[in-house]
Amino acid sequence: MKAIILEHPLLKHKLSILRDKNTGTKEFREVAGEIASILCYEATRDAKLNEVEVETPIQKTNVKKLDENQYAFVPILRAGLSMVDGVLSMIPNAKIGHIGLYRNEETLEPVPYYFKVPKDIEHREVILLDPMLATGGSAIDAISQIKKAGVKKIKFLSIIAAPEGIAKVEEVHPDVQIYTASLDSHLNEKGYIVPGLGDAGDRIFGTK
Ligand code: PRP
Ligand code: URA
Repeated sequence: MKAIILEHPLLKHKLSILRDKNTGTKEFREVAGEIASILCYEATRDAKLNEVEVETPIQKTNVKKLDENQYAFVPILRAGLSMVDGVLSMIPNAKIGHIGLYRNEETLEPVPYYFKVPKDIEHREVILLDPMLATGGSAIDAISQIKKAGVKKIKFLSIIAAPEGIAKVEEVHPDVQIYTASLDSHLNEKGYIVPGLGDAGDRIFGTK
């Protein structure tokens, strides 16, 4: 599947706030959440709807309701946490799992440290959340863990992606649809996305 790169003036505007090094943690978190909700809107175009009857103030009518049990959101810790509130604003009853991964600063290889997902995860579509898709190592590892748990349908939401990372994920997991709000230029020698927004986790949690 080819990555879907969302194009919208509001997204470009919101990204301009995230990229600005003078944006503080509070605003950074808020805007990351807003972008996540827009990505979620796009990623749920194929959502299953159930037909039910409701009564409007005028008469009975058939309406379509989302089957909220079809989804689980899984943020990749830490930075993925910034996207959770945004996607839950769209689907409040989705279940949430967590995958803990960090990049080894020298090798850039992902190091797994936590995995907890809903019991019935194999019956759900999983939407993975991570603002940064850089080398693709973390995304590939998280997708592999979710597949191992029996999940058949997986989507990956990122705010900014590097071409190198997208290519790698598409090669290893061609069945996973990636959505991103920006395809940036390249990775620098330290594996950071250029122009990017810096270290997402540090900017969200104020750890640097
Ligand atoms: C960042 C980011 C991704 C990963 C992307 O996490 O949130 O998970 O790097 O890089 P990759 O595509 O090269 O694997 P980081 O390892 O900095 O952990 P953190 O979220 O706890 O800060
Ligand atoms: N992780 C980040 O937080 N930022 C990058 O640019 C690359 C990986």
